[in-house]
Amino acid sequence: MTSTTTLDRAARSATKPAPPFYITRQEERRLRMKAERLSPSLVIDQPSSFDEYTRQLMVPPAVMDLARKASGIRLATWEVQAIRELLDPGTGSEDRSERPRLLREILIAKAAADPSHPPYIRVACTGRGLYDDRARAFGHDTDTDADLVGSPVVLEIWPAQHYSPMHSHGQTTGIIHCLAGQLDVMSYSHLSWDAEKRGLATLTPGRCAWLTKETYAVHKVFCPMDGGPQPTPLLNDTGDFAASFHVYLNEDELTLDAYEPSVLSRDKFHYIHEHTHMESIFETYSDLSWTALRKALVDVAARW
Ligand SMILES: [Fe+2]
Repeated sequence: MTSTTTLDRAARSATKPAPPFYITRQEERRLRMKAERLSPSLVIDQPSSFDEYTRQLMVPPAVMDLARKASGIRLATWEVQAIRELLDPGTGSEDRSERPRLLREILIAKAAADPSHPPYIRVACTGRGLYDDRARAFGHDTDTDADLVGSPVVLEIWPAQHYSPMHSHGQTTGIIHCLAGQLDVMSYSHLSWDAEKRGLATLTPGRCAWLTKETYAVHKVFCPMDGGPQPTPLLNDTGDFAASFHVYLNEDELTLDAYEPSVLSRDKFHYIHEHTHMESIFETYSDLSWTALRKALVDVAARW
């Protein structure tokens, strides 16, 4: 009797749907195969077969233009290593009293502010970040004059096992280009907790997911890398991460006319709260500016 109960529990835990996607292994396999058949293709990559070529041919030209321009971007090895150090929880270090480093400290602050899901870090490629003052507190000299919101280009840092809620990018057209590590992207039919899952794809460096208001606008992003020996539900226990480069253009920025930032629909996006399962609004902001992060990375590398 005891062994049956134990087996049942083990079987349940092996198949019980869990965050971030609440799917079984079997469903995961089915959704990965489903993503391979979606047309237009959910992922933009250098096609290696007629089938991939045909499915990517249906991707809108404005998206292909963004993807092509981003296709060569990667993080340098030293940048990856420096980000890893700044995310490191320090649990393996000799000196446990050492203050968490910049990116780990931002993760801790974000997890405390929003315990609904493990946090990721948004880095504004133009403008200012909410936590830039923390970078200065760590001695990383940063610009204080830039604006806080409205960057059409964002670098996102995804600590291993952390994820976004399901969200919609509304009216924007954009790309999610993987720069480092590995990311899983689940596409949904619409913005609702029970929405149909359209497919699950993995991005590796150079691969790109995309969206328009009509196609693939709703998704959830997860970093499936190793979360370390003692993760909690909100914070991992490793410096491992993935990074992605996001461009979101509003409708009036899609033509070849002059680019004029205006009332930006990318300033807000709608998402489904992980605990309440209700739709909410997220006013987009950046955690850090690229200038602050870049300075922190250089400062880390200078100590090597
Ligand atoms: Fe997104």
